[in-house]
This record gives sequence, structure tokens and C-alpha cells, in this order.
Amino acid sequence: MTYLITGGAGFIGSHLTQRLLREGKRVICLDNLSTGDMRNIEQNKSQGYKFIRGDVTKPIEIEEKADVVFHLASPASPPDYFRFPVETLLTGSVGTYNALNYALKNGALFFLSSTSEIYGDPLTSPQNEEYCGSVNPIWPRSVYEVSKRFSESMTMTFHREFGLSTRIVRIFNTYGPNMRLNDGRSIPNFVRSALSGQDITIYGDGSQTRSYCYIDDVVDAFLMLIDADYYLPINVGNPEEITIKELADSIVEATGSKSKIVFNKPLDDDPKTRKPDIGKAKHILGWEPKINLHQGLNLMIEAFRCKN
Ligand SMILES: NC(=O)c1ccc[n+]([C@@H]2O[C@H](COP(=O)([O-])OP(=O)(O)OC[C@H]3O[C@@H](n4cnc5c(N)ncnc54)[C@H](O)[C@@H]3O)[C@@H](O)[C@H]2O)c1
Repeated sequence: MTYLITGGAGFIGSHLTQRLLREGKRVICLDNLSTGDMRNIEQNKSQGYKFIRGDVTKPIEIEEKADVVFHLASPASPPDYFRFPVETLLTGSVGTYNALNYALKNGALFFLSSTSEIYGDPLTSPQNEEYCGSVNPIWPRSVYEVSKRFSESMTMTFHREFGLSTRIVRIFNTYGPNMRLNDGRSIPNFVRSALSGQDITIYGDGSQTRSYCYIDDVVDAFLMLIDADYYLPINVGNPEEITIKELADSIVEATGSKSKIVFNKPLDDDPKTRKPDIGKAKHILGWEPKINLHQGLNLMIEAFRCKN
């Protein structure tokens, strides 16, 4: 089996790659390295691995045929998509169209990594897949939310119109090794600050909630979804909900840091709550997370100690 992973040099793509290579699969990575990191993939020297530096917003002209396309390419951290707003919209729209066309031409299964951000600032909690979300199409954050909504719509259209086999996963906050130190998302930010003894900055009063899933659990869900005959969107995340303040406290405790927690003005458009309803993933895939936040944070902290 050959897998094309767009965005394979990023955080999630690099873990997925390592799992597939361990299972003896062949992996082609297509990545423009805009937010990815060569250090995530330089250990993949096996015969079964090929890296192609390229941008999915250009037609994908890879001669090799893949059986599965994991379409992960997209800036994913808020500082990244605020830095690359136009590129984010183009990657989610033109890039997804190109990746779908490559899959169609090669008779490959197409897997879209969508996001809980398509729910926007949700008016209901937990969020299940039937909830249509609360997104303001003109707020700055919409570059990501709307590009992923477009990606889902385009994927469903290829499924309906051309009979393409497709999968859509709505990923909630995921963390683990291979995140960049300057990634900008809360867990890497807090762990980096705690390990270097700097202040940990919370935007707002810290009462906003998130639900964090460890990367190995997310990769398990991806591979189970590939094997399941289910094309509608499916939530993947850890329903263990925690406030941002509780998260910062846990990281200070787990690192034994002397860092102070300081509060800054709230970010515009920051969602107040995030908690997945994973009933479908449990029922359809038989999946649920195995690694709790305490265990996952310890693994993450060990990995970041080596980076620091
Ligand atoms: N990590 C999370 O918590 C999370 C949550 C929800 C959804 N997702 C989705 O999972 C996917 C991977 O996220 P991640 O956390 O690994 O992010 P990441 O930024 O670490 O990885 C994204 C990768 O895509 C590449 N890329 C970006 N634009 C590209 C383009 N136009 N052409 C080719 N490559 C491009 C980047 O260089 C990078 O290697 C994204 O689609 C993201 O939306 C992630």
C-alpha cells in the first residue's frame, strides 16, 4: 500500500508517517514546509519513504500512484493561519480540490483532516457531528474555519458526484512530540514557558475550556476510520474538558516549574468552549482515547526537555 500524505512534515503528518512506515507501508510526503519541520522527517530514510517539496495549491503531478491520500496540508495553529491568511484559504480550497483530483485520477481513498474549528464559537456543548456550528465568515479566524468548511463541502461533492471513496475526520485539539517549540498553541506554549522558567501567559481569564487528545490516540482513530466504511464527518478528540487555567496549573505542577501564570487581554474570536461528543467514533470505529491528559503531558514534557 502506498500513502500520499500532504502536510506530512508537520506535527500530525510526521506521527502518521512513522506509524505507517513501522507497519511496512510506503509513504510519499508532499509538503511546502511553510509550517512543517524537516527535523520531523529526517529519520525516515527507509526505502519506503519519499519526500517531495511542493505546494498543494499547484496541481499535483506525482507520477507514482497512491492507494490512500491523507490530506493534512494546512496551517493549523492560530499564529500560523493569522500569519498566512490568504495561503490558508487557498490551501483549504484550491489545495483540497487538487488533492481530491489526484485521488480521483488514481482511484485512491481520500481522507480529509478537518477540524473542530468548523463549529466556530459553539452555542452547544459537547459538539456532535449534527451541529452546524456558529461561524462568522468575516472574523479573522474564519480563514481557517471557512477553508475547512469548504474542504468538507468539496470532499462530499466529489463523493456524491464522482463516487470517490472519502473519509472526513473533525479533529479536536491534539498535542504531542514533534510540535514546534514556537507552534503557538496552548500546550506547546505553556510547556516551553514552564521549562524555561518564563511567565505562562493566559489570554482572557482562563475559564475558556478545551479538550486535548494525545497524538497516538488520534493516529489510531485515523487508521481505524480508513478501514471503516463511513464517509460522513466524524469527531476525534478527548472529551476530558479542562479550563485553560487548569491546564496551565497542571503543566506548572508536572514540570516542577517556578513560572508565574499571568493574564493578558482576551484574544478576539477565541472560542469559549470545545468538547467533542465522540459517540459516533465509539459506535462506528470502536475508538476512544486511551491516554489521559496527565499521561500525555508527561510524554510531551519529556520530548520538549530534549528540544530545549
Ligand atoms: N493539531 C491539531 O490540534 C489539529 C486540530 C484540528 C485539525 N488539525 C488538522 O490536521 C492537519 C495537520 O495539522 P498539524 O497540527 O500537523 O499542523 P502543522 O502546521 O504542524 O502541519 C501542517 C503541514 O502542512 C504543510 N502545509 C501547509 N500548507 C501547505 C501547502 N499549501 N502545500 C503543502 N504543504 C502545506 C506545512 O508545511 C506542515 O508541514 C491540518 O489539516 C489541521 O487543520 C490539527
